[in-house]
Amino acid sequence: MKRRSFLKGIAAAGAASLLPVGAVTTLLSSCAEPDGPEGWDFDEVLDRSGTWSLKYERAGEGKFAMWIADMDFRTDPVVRKALRERLDRDVLGYTSTPEEFFEAIRAWEGKQHGWDIPREWVGYAPGVITAISQAFLTFTQPGDKVIVQPPVYDQFRLYAERLGREVVDNPMIFDNGRYRMDFEGLERLFDARTKVLVVCNPHNPCGILWDRETLEHLAEICERHGVLVFSDEIHADFALWGRTHVPFCSAGDAAARVGLMFGGPTKAFNLAGLYGTAFCVIPDSEKRERYLGALKAAKLYEPSIPTLVSLIAAYTSESGWLPALKEYIQGNIDFVMEFFAQNDLGIRPIRPEASFLVWLDCRALGLGQEELLSRFRDDAGVYLNDGASYGVGGEGFVRLNIGCPRSVLRAALSQIKAAF
Ligand SMILES: Cc1ncc(COP(=O)(O)O)c(C=O)c1O
Repeated sequence: MKRRSFLKGIAAAGAASLLPVGAVTTLLSSCAEPDGPEGWDFDEVLDRSGTWSLKYERAGEGKFAMWIADMDFRTDPVVRKALRERLDRDVLGYTSTPEEFFEAIRAWEGKQHGWDIPREWVGYAPGVITAISQAFLTFTQPGDKVIVQPPVYDQFRLYAERLGREVVDNPMIFDNGRYRMDFEGLERLFDARTKVLVVCNPHNPCGILWDRETLEHLAEICERHGVLVFSDEIHADFALWGRTHVPFCSAGDAAARVGLMFGGPTKAFNLAGLYGTAFCVIPDSEKRERYLGALKAAKLYEPSIPTLVSLIAAYTSESGWLPALKEYIQGNIDFVMEFFAQNDLGIRPIRPEASFLVWLDCRALGLGQEELLSRFRDDAGVYLNDGASYGVGGEGFVRLNIGCPRSVLRAALSQIKAAF
């Protein structure tokens, strides 16, 4: 109930200045009536206390929890209904993986990303990071090199290093407010021990949707050096403003030969923490057999019941929840962009092309990283991610998770304004 009192505090203390008309009644609205007339209400502030939410527990009482990448929204009603109905059957039990699971993935990739994938290319994956970690184990040896392109999702480095692989940086170039890959730098990095490059597609934390030409070029370079590309596409279904995501393995013949793609519905459908709700696509038969064989050997090739039910429900849902969510997130992003344009605080947001994470360039403030974080977390009371945790080029930046009701975002930004 602690979280609830904090939210009540927002409602009571700042309602007039911070919240839009009508939002106070929406705040803390009863959980008995979960959805609005359309089946969802992204404005509703949910109480996540007592749910072992890492996001809220680590942020602490009285803070705005805007860090780790899960959202404060209920998932698609179709997914919730499917899970409830399965539980209502009362007995769980060992379950076989139905063909519907793979068909749902194929149909989704075709519909969302225009990518027709043969059935045999698709496999189950035990969570995106678990799957990438298993791919490190399968295709590299301790001491081999793995290239990452920072600033980038920190867990690529974390798991490669935990497995004794050496992580090599090819930092992105940040030019005129836009990031691009440094292909010249990349060419200089390869040696006989370099085995894998991990690409974050779309890119977390910088929100980049990589275009086909970039991915094609990346694949050609890697193939020339005998290097595999692991493509993390967990944010793929969150391409915004009508833009399209390009699956790495669809970006030309070289990409299909060197690429292993990992994806799943957990980001777009807010199912994070439902571990193992993921899949892989590996066009090359030899690599696929080797990889799926390794997953089977580790007993990691058996999706759980919630995984099967939620993935199939999400990917076959026609409720309109995901398009509505994207529209809401676009509104939140516009809100952040306008806020920092109107309030010259020395903080510059990079407009994301995908997902619900906004990369804030705070270098103009000239603060050390510790002080910068303390300003946000202690003075503003906004718990967000440290940009430096994403590696080279992340110093002076922070990552803000805007997957929350607009009233909460507005209140958090208002506190940032006061603190800076
Ligand atoms: C780029 C990226 N990959 C993977 C993950 C986590 O994936 P999983 O929970 O399936 O291991 C995240 C979560 O934030 C992410 O942003």
